[in-house]
Amino acid sequence: MLSLLAELRAREEARFAETHPRSRALAAQARESLFEGVPMHWMRKWPGGFPVFVAEARGARFTDVDGHEYVDFCLGDTGAMTGHAPQPTLRAIAEQAARGLTLMLPSEDALAVAEELTRRFGVSSWQFALTATDANRFAIRLARHLTGRPKILVFDWCYHGTVDETFATLEDGVVRARSGNLGPPVDPAETTRVVQFNDVDGLERELAHSDVAVVLTEPALTNVGIVHPEPGFHDALRELTRRHGALLAIDETHTICCGTGGFTAAHELEPDVVTIGKPIAGGLPAAAYGFSAEVASRLAGTIELEDVDVGGVGGTLAANALSLAAMRATLSEVLTEEAFARMIPLAERWTEGVEAGIEEAGLPWHVTRLGCRAEYLFGPDRPRNGAEAHAAGNFELERFTHLYALNRGILLTPFHNMALMSPATTEADVDRHTQVFREGVLELSAAVGS
Ligand SMILES: Cc1ncc(COP(=O)(O)O)c(C=O)c1O
Repeated sequence: MLSLLAELRAREEARFAETHPRSRALAAQARESLFEGVPMHWMRKWPGGFPVFVAEARGARFTDVDGHEYVDFCLGDTGAMTGHAPQPTLRAIAEQAARGLTLMLPSEDALAVAEELTRRFGVSSWQFALTATDANRFAIRLARHLTGRPKILVFDWCYHGTVDETFATLEDGVVRARSGNLGPPVDPAETTRVVQFNDVDGLERELAHSDVAVVLTEPALTNVGIVHPEPGFHDALRELTRRHGALLAIDETHTICCGTGGFTAAHELEPDVVTIGKPIAGGLPAAAYGFSAEVASRLAGTIELEDVDVGGVGGTLAANALSLAAMRATLSEVLTEEAFARMIPLAERWTEGVEAGIEEAGLPWHVTRLGCRAEYLFGPDRPRNGAEAHAAGNFELERFTHLYALNRGILLTPFHNMALMSPATTEADVDRHTQVFREGVLELSAAVGS
């Protein structure tokens, strides 16, 4: 199987190199001025040996510098879940740009955005940042400040951005730095407790140490493949965090795919803190974190005015006028109820198409969906937790499926086999994926069977 897969991949790599001469030339030139030839190191993860250079993106499609058009199911790994360059956001950006970009003073847009986020997520006291990473970092700091406790708790194989404390995994029950963790400031075991998702007993055991300031989690894991919470898990999580004096922070950065108020609104969660970034300004850097009224009132007055700008929470460009204008337009006119009513059925259609392909090819895989996000995993059963999902990963197979799709005008996220629907995605886009996926898995299964 391995050598056949290697053969198929070599064939696809040759096809990619041959049909992308301009991207190949730019990639070669980029090695002269960019570290390892890319402007951001994750871009090395694209299959094919070099990344596709983009000429232009609009709606659910983009074209590359070689003139190929792609259906984009990656959508900037959720940063462009709104579709590329949504008109209302572009209009707001142009209008605000002519009136000033950043001031370190509030504009009226800040109120409109905070009120809308409160309506969507329930928590009512908001602050802004430029990235979801920062929103999480600031929420963690404020939780430690408020509770006086040193640790956080996360679930195994979580991802919340480049937040030092979250790069911790479990190995035989022991907290270890996640593989690939670059230059950690301290051993994450000193800052972090780690539990398997859906493990209520483990959660209770770790919280009983009374040193956890905040449990930070996605309401369903999306970064190691999709892992759904089991019935009762969120109730237990809420009850245990309350009982043991830890805050509960829900990171909705990806799970906004469940609807306008994310998983929190869809499943009536009651978090103390909500964090969100990526698509909320239509692709412009912006993020937010909000506290419940109860937590905000406990926090109020605890931060010295003289030190408020040097407390480790903030950023010069955070809450800039441009991001806020873009957030206001995106929330009110792009990521609307009507948009989700289109996007979620498209993900259902995508899932059905993939399921049919898996069945026809007889591969021991499965497909799963969360709102307008869906993905297939290389194992027969839904994982219960991050460790199981991680074990079902197959980097080599993933590189083949991604490159096969890319060579046929389809972009999946570089991480896992994830597809996201935007308001601009069409049924024809989904059906194109279904067709390409079917052809790919039939080739694969023929290779396995031969
Ligand atoms: C759930 C979640 N939170 C936070 C982040 C960090 O977002 P950013 O890289 O934009 O800071 C990510 C990124 O993938 C994420 O998936």
